[in-house]
This record gives sequence, C-alpha cells and structure tokens, in this order.
Amino acid sequence: MPVRIHPSILSADFANLQAGIERVATADLVHVDVMDNHFVPNLTLGLPVVEALQKVSPLPLDLHLMITDADRWAPVYAESGAYSVTFHAEAAQDAVATARRIRQIGARAGLAVKPGTSIAPYLELLAEFDLLLIMTVEPGFGGQSFMADTMPKLSAAREAVDRAGLDVWLQVDGGISEDTIGIAAAAGADTFVAGSSVFGAENAANQIELLRNLAAQHTH
Ligand code: DX5
Ligand code: ZN
Repeated sequence: MPVRIHPSILSADFANLQAGIERVATADLVHVDVMDNHFVPNLTLGLPVVEALQKVSPLPLDLHLMITDADRWAPVYAESGAYSVTFHAEAAQDAVATARRIRQIGARAGLAVKPGTSIAPYLELLAEFDLLLIMTVEPGFGGQSFMADTMPKLSAAREAVDRAGLDVWLQVDGGISEDTIGIAAAAGADTFVAGSSVFGAENAANQIELLRNLAAQHTH
C-alpha cells in the first residue's frame, strides 16, 4: 500500500505560500485548509488564493474545506483544478450528490468527519468517494494533539474499503508527527496530513522522508 504525505500549508508562512510549497516539493500532494470562521472558529483563505496557488504549485492540491454549505461550494473549488476536494459530512445536506458533482468536474471527491462524528452511515457509501478523512483533532487549528480515540473509526473504514476492494484513500489530519504517524498507519491510514511537524522542522524534506518511512514500517 502506498504511503502519501500531504504537508499542510496552514503552518507555512502566509506571506509567502509559494515558497512554502516549494519547501515541501518532495511530498505527494499539498494540503490546503480552507476555513470560513463559521464551520470552524478560524479564517484562512478562500477561492482566489486557491486559484493562485493552483497556478504556481509544483504539487497537486489536496483541498480540505472547513466551510458551511459544502454542497454549494465544493464543486466551485473543484473547478479551480484541484486534484482532490474534501468537504465535511457535517456541513453537507447531500454528501453523495456533492461528491458526484466533484467527480464530474474531474477532481477526486473526499468526505471528512470530525472526531465526534460517526462514520457508520458512510461505510455503505464508500464507493461514492475517493478519500475519507478521519480528523484526528477538532478542525480549526494546527499544532493540536493527536486524538488516539479516533483510531477505531479508521480501522472500521480500512476494513470496509478492503472488503469492497475500493480505491479510497484513508486520510488522517491533526497532530501527525514522528510520535503518532505509526499509530495511524497501523490502524489503516495511507494518507497523512502534517502541518507543524513538517513546516516546523529545520529540513522539511528530511521530515517528510522520516514520516514516510515510519508510516511504511507500520503499514500492514
Ligand atoms: C486543522 C487542519 C490541519 C492542520 C494540521 O483543522 O485541518 O490540516 O494544518 O496541523 P498539525 O499537523 O499541526 O496538527
Ligand atoms: Zn486539514
């Protein structure tokens, strides 16, 4: 199973995001956190900045939308040319219809769940998605501690994906570092978002390599 490392530019220098992305050029995709100060109590960036990043990024973009009214906005973000667009189950009225629209536009469709949200209603619908994001912190801020009690959801998702033979990436986001990535990999994650641990490192490329190796070692 391949291991994907997605550095989150939430921990990069917002005055120079292009340079931030260039620092992590050895990663797989770059994770972009869109927050609206409504779905989460923080405000980051929106469509114009995503479109500008899309033009200069050497890596494909993995958008994580922490915004209300996902059904309306997720397809608009997909039109930006992003490789992957993930919206929150808690913010969508019709997650399947929204995922279908994202796919129609040509992006991979991701569904995210907060730590307290059950994935049970979605396990039968996994074929409708290309990525399932199990949040390992409450969304909103970088630098929080990994919540290990979300791991049973990840194991259940891994079992369901493998049983159905689907190509659904299982992503974790929040508190991923050299201390925690093995726990998430062992529970079935294959796609790892890391913000502070990569951008806080002196050498981001080395940190990406370290995280990649640790994840691979703990993958079944
Ligand atoms: C938090 C964001 C994350 C954040 C992770 O709501 O979704 O992508 O950047 O940051 P770290 O890796 O520092 O926990
Ligand atoms: Zn994120």
